[in-house]
Amino acid sequence: MNKLYNKYEKEILGILARYPAEGKRSAVMPLLFLAQRETGYVPTEALSNIAEITGISETDVASIMGFYTLFHAEPAGRYRIQICTDLPCALRGSESYLEQICEKLGVKEGETTADGLFTVEAVKCLAACHRAPMFQLQGDGEIKYYEDQNVEITMQIVEEIRHKVAAEQEA
Ligand code: FES
Repeated sequence: MNKLYNKYEKEILGILARYPAEGKRSAVMPLLFLAQRETGYVPTEALSNIAEITGISETDVASIMGFYTLFHAEPAGRYRIQICTDLPCALRGSESYLEQICEKLGVKEGETTADGLFTVEAVKCLAACHRAPMFQLQGDGEIKYYEDQNVEITMQIVEEIRHKVAAEQEA
């Protein structure tokens, strides 16, 4: 049928079997997870593959993907630091916090640090508005929330992760 289907036929059939034939569009989310699993992002080609598998338009697949911070259109570092800059967080200083974190890491928003470890992204509401500034860390198959942040605390977290990675590499 297409590249994604040919690669994961058994898994895709298993996903589709969870939904009634007329509800194949509900399989978009698990198919996006599948497409993202190997590389950490969903390649453009996978969008059209998923559209074909589920019988909806590629634009609809892209808009579902764009709504969730868990799906990524671009490759990134091992960890994504996703800082909420939506209005309630902005009122608590998240835009300046984002700028300072980028400055400390030597990147612009959307870029990855030279060591390939951290990509900093601005995202919409992550439902922790009362504990801003906050960020969500994605990486190593996990998602963690860090709330009530300031630049010093966040950079300590970054350093701890760097140490953990260095220790892994030495082991
Ligand atoms: S606006 Fe930032 S978590 Fe809700």
